[in-house]
Amino acid sequence: MSKLRPTGEATPRTDPLVPGADALSGRLRRAPENFLTPEEIGQVGKGRRDFLRASFLAAAGATAAATLGGRGALAADTAGDPDILKPTPWGSSLGQPVAANPYGLPSKHERGLVRRQSPGLTQVAAASVSFAPLQGLFGIITPSGLHFERHHQGWQDIDPTRHRLMINGSRPEFVKTPRVYTMDDIMRLPPVSRMHFIECGANTGMEWGNVAVPTVQYTHGMLSCSEFTGVPLRTLLEYCGADLKAAKFILAEGGDGSSMTRTIPIELVMSGEVMVAYGQNGEMLRPENGYPLRLVVPGVQGVSWVKWLRRIEVGDRPYAAKDEAVHYIDLMPDGQHRQYTSIQECKSVITSPSGGQQLLDKGFFTISGLAWSGRGAIKRVDVSVDGGINWTETTLQTPVLSKCLTRFTLPWNWDGRPALLQSRAMDETGFVQPAYGQLRAVRGTRSIYHNNAIQTWQVAESGDVNNVQIL
Ligand code: MTE
Repeated sequence: MSKLRPTGEATPRTDPLVPGADALSGRLRRAPENFLTPEEIGQVGKGRRDFLRASFLAAAGATAAATLGGRGALAADTAGDPDILKPTPWGSSLGQPVAANPYGLPSKHERGLVRRQSPGLTQVAAASVSFAPLQGLFGIITPSGLHFERHHQGWQDIDPTRHRLMINGSRPEFVKTPRVYTMDDIMRLPPVSRMHFIECGANTGMEWGNVAVPTVQYTHGMLSCSEFTGVPLRTLLEYCGADLKAAKFILAEGGDGSSMTRTIPIELVMSGEVMVAYGQNGEMLRPENGYPLRLVVPGVQGVSWVKWLRRIEVGDRPYAAKDEAVHYIDLMPDGQHRQYTSIQECKSVITSPSGGQQLLDKGFFTISGLAWSGRGAIKRVDVSVDGGINWTETTLQTPVLSKCLTRFTLPWNWDGRPALLQSRAMDETGFVQPAYGQLRAVRGTRSIYHNNAIQTWQVAESGDVNNVQIL
C-alpha cells in the first residue's frame, strides 16, 4: 500500500520518483484524444476508487477492462495480466510493405491528436486559427503537421520556382544594390538551423477577462516550436549593400492576399537571429506555415514571422502598418493602447494533467509542461499543487535553449483530494511569470494580446481537471 502525501505537498526536486508511491498507479484519461474506448472509460468510472491497476494496464489492449472490472480487477496482479499471453494478429501475420505510405503518417490510434479550431472564434475559416494539441505532445518540437496555424487570408501552396524575394530601401541610399532573389539563390547560401518557439501574440487572449475555454489546446495552443533552417537576414542585407548604420527598421511583406506587413527593429536583424527560413524540422516549410519562405523572428510575437515572404524594405522609421497600428496592440486600463510591444514575455503552462483530462486513480503522476521566454533561456520553473501557496522547483529537460520551448517535469503523488496545479517560469533575465492579479493590475482585462499569466488547473475529487483562474 503506498503512503500518500498530504494534498498540496509536491515532491522535492531531487526525488526522482515519489518514495513509496506505486509508479503503476495514477492513470490519466487523455483528452480530448485518447485510446480508451468509451466502454473502458465507463468501467473505470464505476469502480475507480476500488481498483484499477490491472484494468488500466489492459486498457490499451482493449479487452481486459471488460472482463475484469470491479473487485475482480483489484485481485488481479499486474504481472499476471492475461493479455501478455494472448496471440495477437500483429504477431502472426505479414505486415505492410515498405513505402505503403510514401510520406509517413501517424498511427490510426492517434487520429484524435489534431490541430483544432475553436468553435465560434472567427466567422471565416480562412481568417482564423487552428490550435496545436499541446496536451498530447512530448519534448519540445511540434510535429510539422500539428504546428498551429494563423492566417488572415487563407493559406497558399506557392510554386517555389515562381516565388521571389525582393530587398530594397525606402530611400535609394539605404540599399546600394536592390535585388530580387529566387529560392535557388537563397538556398545556395550557407544555411543556419536553430530551434525556436513561435507564439501568436493572441495566445491565451480569450482568458483576459475570465476563464473562457476548457483545454490547454485552446488556452495555449497558438504556440509551436521547430528547428528552422535558412539564411540570416543580415547576410542578405549585407549582400545588397544595405547601409546598416543609417537603417533603423525593416519592413517585411507577405505574398498572400492579406497585405501582411510588419516593422522589425534593425537591432534584431543585426543580432543575426532573424532568419529568412525555408526549412522546418528537416524538410521544407509546410504550406500552412509559409512555404517556401518565411521570416523567423525569435522571441517576437508570431505576427512578425511573415509567411510567404516576398519583400524586405530597409527604412529609418516604423511603418505603422495596419497589423501594428490597429491590430496587435495592447489596450490599457486607461483606454490608451500600446503599439510595438512585440516580445513574448516569460510564460509557462502545465500540459499534463490539464483541462479536460481526468485522473482516473490516485497515485503517481508526472506533472509535465512547457516554458518559454522571448528574452532568452528559461532558468527555472516551479510548480504548485495548492494554488500557489507552496512551490517546488521542477526538472528542466535538456536541451534548454534561448527563445525555445523548455520541457519541465515534476513527479507528484495525488492523494485523491482536490488540488490546484500551477506552473511559474523564470527566464535568464530574472523575469518571473506573473499571477493573474499582478498582470491585471497593470494591463486591465480588456486586452487581447500578450497574456502570460500563471495558468491554474483544478483537479476535482472526481479526478476531473478544469480550467480556473486564481488571482
Ligand atoms: N504572414 C502572412 N503573410 N499572412 C498571415 O496571415 N499570420 C501571422 C504570421 N505571419 C500571417 C503571417 C500571424 S498572426 C501568426 S501568429 C503567424 O504567422 C502564425 O504562423 P503559423 O501559421 O505558421 O503558425
